[in-house]
Amino acid sequence: MADLDGIGLLERTKEKYPDMPVVMVTAVHDISVALAAIRNGAYDYLLKPFEREQLLNTVSRALENRRLKVENRAYQTNLESLVQERTKQWQSAMANLERSYDITLEALGDALDLKDAETEGHSRRVTLFTIAIAQAMGLPKDQIAVIARGAFLHDIGKMAIPDAILRKPDKLDPDEVAIMQEHAYRGYQMLKKIPFLTEASEIVYSHQERFDGTGYPRHLKGTEIPLGARIFSIADTLDAITSDRPYRPAQSLKAARAEIERWSGRQFDPEIVKIFLEMPDRIWEDLRNEIDGQTGRAAYTTGAKG
Ligand SMILES: [Fe+2]
Ligand SMILES: [Fe+2]
Repeated sequence: MADLDGIGLLERTKEKYPDMPVVMVTAVHDISVALAAIRNGAYDYLLKPFEREQLLNTVSRALENRRLKVENRAYQTNLESLVQERTKQWQSAMANLERSYDITLEALGDALDLKDAETEGHSRRVTLFTIAIAQAMGLPKDQIAVIARGAFLHDIGKMAIPDAILRKPDKLDPDEVAIMQEHAYRGYQMLKKIPFLTEASEIVYSHQERFDGTGYPRHLKGTEIPLGARIFSIADTLDAITSDRPYRPAQSLKAARAEIERWSGRQFDPEIVKIFLEMPDRIWEDLRNEIDGQTGRAAYTTGAKG
């Protein structure tokens, strides 16, 4: 080695061929150099003079060591891609499962729309309206999914209310009102046991509460009412006002806005009302048309007089 010593060669070899095992051959008085070489990545060293057997043994151990290292690395890489692959499979299984859940929920919500005297597509519209407001508020996707399920199933407890009360055309008497009001708690009871709907059940429980504490069943006030329920109540009122009712035709978006603004701080959370009022009419028209298209109803027009 003319212009390169053993350590220099070792460094260069490790650079170019990181997997190549290096065995240093050194004289007895160079033992400290040999140890330095090992610290720098040499596999072993042989002291001069050495036997043929010794050389063969050392080299074969070095090769075996290299084989194990390479094998181990391949195993780790495989393991990583295996884990990645499994994670992907698991995520898509979860997504499928969630989709199945949501399809089941849709059937449940639609069944209620048939039983309830409220307008067709109400659950779907209210859900889309709720999602739109939640998005305008910048809420994270996961939270919006929970809120959407709560909104969609808000009146599911009405399943437990007798048709005679639910569909009664005349004004309900006080006893009937009390039974009707049970629907919030009934809905909560139905859903809270389903792990996937526990959070949504809280929204169902609270969907009739009012910001000033005059709602039911628990007379919750302000932020005691789950955020999702506070968003929902604006969406619900918006849909109620802009839908036909047996006793009056649909009113305009303008009328709905005015009504929601008027009840800001009483029925509704004023912070959410502020965001709602900044949202363009176009959103509500498009969403309503989307649902009316699905349910085969006549498209909503803003021309309706309120
Ligand atoms: Fe309700
Ligand atoms: Fe409703």
